[in-house]
Amino acid sequence: MQPETTEVTQPFATIMSALDPPMAVVTAATPAERAGCLVGFHAQSSIHPNRYVVWLSKANHTCRVGLRATHLGVHFLGRGDREVAEAFGTRSGDDGDKFAGWDFDIGEGLAPVLRDCVNGFVGRRVALLDEGGDHVCVVLEPVCVWATDGFRPLRLADVEDLEPGHPVGDRPQPRTQRAG
Ligand SMILES: Cc1cc2nc3c(=O)[nH]c(=O)nc-3n(C[C@H](O)[C@H](O)[C@H](O)COP(=O)(O)O)c2cc1C
Repeated sequence: MQPETTEVTQPFATIMSALDPPMAVVTAATPAERAGCLVGFHAQSSIHPNRYVVWLSKANHTCRVGLRATHLGVHFLGRGDREVAEAFGTRSGDDGDKFAGWDFDIGEGLAPVLRDCVNGFVGRRVALLDEGGDHVCVVLEPVCVWATDGFRPLRLADVEDLEPGHPVGDRPQPRTQRAG
């Protein structure tokens, strides 16, 4: 891997922040446990066929559960969903069940589907990429999609004050591992 330099890292961070990506909550479950975290790294990656990618931090409980799940839930957060972002982005499933207090259904492949999130999909995992960075890329085929008109996404600028449940310093080795 190339060494990172300040000349590259700082302007790169400036551009990435200015892109102001929409925020989503990714969920996953195995028969033993469920997980979910806030993500800003996600995008459509193919039209024919439909494909979507999410990048999960290797520090996260959601990554460890997600790698053993067949499907992931992807919930696109709207302007009024800051509370959801806070619940799933600032606490870790390594410390307890963060689904307590949230209504959810079980989707295909056991993926938890949060009832408060009215735009999203469950995707079947079709590929994985780990090129040695601190996030793993999961490629999804949407198999069940729900959507509403007039969706206005919650964006990074709306939540960048939140402190991640697993901070940058936890990657790639988290302080605790409930799953794995
Ligand atoms: C604004 C913001 C963006 C985030 N983006 C991602 C992301 O793209 N991928 C990821 O895996 N974690 C991301 N996180 C971190 C996780 O949501 C956070 O560490 C969470 O508490 C991990 O929970 P878990 O250990 O239960 O999976 C982000 C957090 C915040 C606050």
